[in-house]
Amino acid sequence: MILSPSILNVEDNKKIEYIQKLEKNGVKFLHLDIMDGKFVENKTFDYQYIKELRKHSNMIFDTHLMIMNPEQLIEEYIDSGSDYITFHIEATNKAFDIIEKIKRCNKKVGISIKPNTSLSSTLEYLPFIDLVLVMSVEPGKGGQSFMNNSLPKIKELKELKEVNNYKYLIEVDGGINNETASLVKEAGVDLIVVGSYLVKQTDLKKAILDLTNI
Ligand code: DX5
Ligand code: ZN
Repeated sequence: MILSPSILNVEDNKKIEYIQKLEKNGVKFLHLDIMDGKFVENKTFDYQYIKELRKHSNMIFDTHLMIMNPEQLIEEYIDSGSDYITFHIEATNKAFDIIEKIKRCNKKVGISIKPNTSLSSTLEYLPFIDLVLVMSVEPGKGGQSFMNNSLPKIKELKELKEVNNYKYLIEVDGGINNETASLVKEAGVDLIVVGSYLVKQTDLKKAILDLTNI
């Protein structure tokens, strides 16, 4: 299983040190949660901080935009050093424009859906994207419990991918720990976002290894 650790619940003055520890332990992806206080209640850092992080890390930056009208800031995120840029289809009616813009700049593009959004709203985009991010908690904060209704979506995405020979990775975000990681793996996920569970571990190296080996 490929991990994409989130730094949302890492204290600001410890974020860089944490990222470097992850990288040293072989973690390839880094999940960056961007919240604007509109699409979700909380607010986090923005593209400027991603630029700063880029100076300290060679990991694959997996940026998750939880922002309203992502089309308005998409150039900034393309230029930030992000490798994957994922936006919520609930946040825009310009999804095709955004997909095209990100791809034209040779970045990977993902779409995300909240727990109550059905998969049918993603179907028209699936042939064109690099990643689908299935939310297994209501977006907005870390440390929530995993929602089982993500599992049938993951299974269906996997089937659709195989039947149609689509290329996207399937990622799941929210409430992932050693137990829920097994469930999503079985359902067919490629990438797991791990936030608070990993931050809480005293033996980071072992936790990374255990999750990777699931
Ligand atoms: C929630 C964020 C998640 C969050 C996950 O809105 O998108 O990436 O950091 O945190 P955990 O793993 O604690 O649910
Ligand atoms: Zn996220």
